[in-house]
Amino acid sequence: MCGIIGRVDYRDISPNLIEGLRRLEYRGYDSAGIATLDGGKIRVVKRAGTVDRLAEAFRSSPVRGTLGIAHTRWATHGGVNDINAHPHVSCDGKVAVIHNGIIENFAELKSSLRREGHDFVSETDTEVVAHLSEDILREGDDLMQTGLKLAKMLKGQYALVIMNSDNPERLLGMRHNAPLMVGVGRNYSVYASDVLGFIDETKRAVFLEDDTVSVAERNHLEVRSLGGLPRDYKVVDLAEELGSPDKKNFEHFTLKEIHEQPGSILRIMKQDPGKVTLFRKQLEEAKRIFFVAAGSSYHASMLGKIYLSEHMGLYSDVILASEYRSYERWFDEGTVLVAVSQSGETMDVLEAVRAGKEKGCSILGVVNHAPSSLERMSDTVVNLRAGQEVGVAATKSFTSQVALFYSIANKDIDDLEVESISRAVSDSLAQEEAVKSIAREIASSKDIYFLGRGKNFPLALEGALKMKELAYLHAEGIAAGELKHGPLALIEKGTPLILINPDDETHDDTISNGMEVKARGGVLIGVAPDTHGGYDYFIRIPKVLPDHYPLVVAVPLQLLAYHTARLLRANIDKPRNLAKSVTVK
Ligand code: G6P
Repeated sequence: MCGIIGRVDYRDISPNLIEGLRRLEYRGYDSAGIATLDGGKIRVVKRAGTVDRLAEAFRSSPVRGTLGIAHTRWATHGGVNDINAHPHVSCDGKVAVIHNGIIENFAELKSSLRREGHDFVSETDTEVVAHLSEDILREGDDLMQTGLKLAKMLKGQYALVIMNSDNPERLLGMRHNAPLMVGVGRNYSVYASDVLGFIDETKRAVFLEDDTVSVAERNHLEVRSLGGLPRDYKVVDLAEELGSPDKKNFEHFTLKEIHEQPGSILRIMKQDPGKVTLFRKQLEEAKRIFFVAAGSSYHASMLGKIYLSEHMGLYSDVILASEYRSYERWFDEGTVLVAVSQSGETMDVLEAVRAGKEKGCSILGVVNHAPSSLERMSDTVVNLRAGQEVGVAATKSFTSQVALFYSIANKDIDDLEVESISRAVSDSLAQEEAVKSIAREIASSKDIYFLGRGKNFPLALEGALKMKELAYLHAEGIAAGELKHGPLALIEKGTPLILINPDDETHDDTISNGMEVKARGGVLIGVAPDTHGGYDYFIRIPKVLPDHYPLVVAVPLQLLAYHTARLLRANIDKPRNLAKSVTVK
């Protein structure tokens, strides 16, 4: 969601700002804008729509300067239009602000600022920050003091970058429950909400701690707590952690990431056994275990729960992060929260973790995007090391999470088993042509159902989620046993049903459910190691151990959604209305 770039440099930075925004596009957005200090005055160009639209507007009315900010907006307060796009400027034109998050008390602040004579032009919550800053700066405060005073006034969550025309060589950055970091370049500094905002230019970064105010100059950074105390910081080298994302020869990042899974699964299953043992021990000693996650990470956690139950005899619960409040009364010192998040920045997950920490829970984090807020908040953390996932829909991070949970639960896995899983996932990928032809059969359907039992049920949910996200088709994942309790009424002649049906203990019951659908005119698409007379279409998956099926089944389901989306010409890497990193509630 909202992407932030702020830059203080010695050369004209407008092209870098627009490039930075392009690299943050994957976070999801609906408008974009930039502001620079051009000839002593703040000048803004902003547009609803894509960064390309912004770049076009910029070409006909360029702004230049060595100090500037840029933003991709994902609308929360106020419709999607040019005026509500960021940056927002104060009445005197001397302050421009970009923001990720929500200022919860904006309505009160806005009324009192209006009473004092400030004119508002947008419907956003963010604009109050520009007007407040104008008032504080007029009293003669420097940028750091301005940030500290703002922190006392603002409620909600924010990453903010603020520029002021009387401070041509400095930017103010503030963060409270929203990500913000600084890229440290040679003679320049870049604020960004994500390392992708600057990683092509500098691999040195400062991950600002939460609840900090900072002022960046070209060769200097000052960081203080929201209360004003000086804070130390570390400049880290990103070269090893991340790489520059590159589509290679694939048409989309999503397809490339699907194809990376034999490697990413191998990496997570062979990683630091000490960390896995520590994780396992903390689970064994826990009084109570909750997985907390959203989206695909939630589906992976459902498999984590089954693996923990089957291999370790441990009972756990999986909660949607956004629903944690209903279970908060069980959070206490003996409780372990397994917080699972690809991005490590999902607001709902972080909120649940914060609530857990306050009650004394131990936090076991599972992240892919490190360093991230979740990584810093966790007591023990496993980094999936699946590599940057650029496609908004989770693919390789999902299988890495599943593979990790299996490795934690089953302490007898050896290298041979790991390698056989990775080979089986490659075999699943080899079914791509068959999957493509099935995509042609289902692309014109209005509803698609995915059915599975046991470990295949979370896969049914995940397969349906991919279909919704990528192809914008209505899809539902159903526990096979629930079919008769409602969903069967939806089956009509020609309704496609993906039957996830490996040769595990669920096979016979699931086939019976499939036949019930077929008897009502449904079209059966079997995902199984062996074909069956009832299938109208068949996607072969390799024959593997029951525990390995989730990993080999995930691949054709991802490919099916991908190729259906491609036929429907959907925006695969950046599906409409969705964001990679959901940093609002
Ligand atoms: C967004 C993404 C999903 C992802 C979910 C959870 O909705 O579009 O693909 O599964 O967030 O993200 P997380 O980073 O917490 O795993």
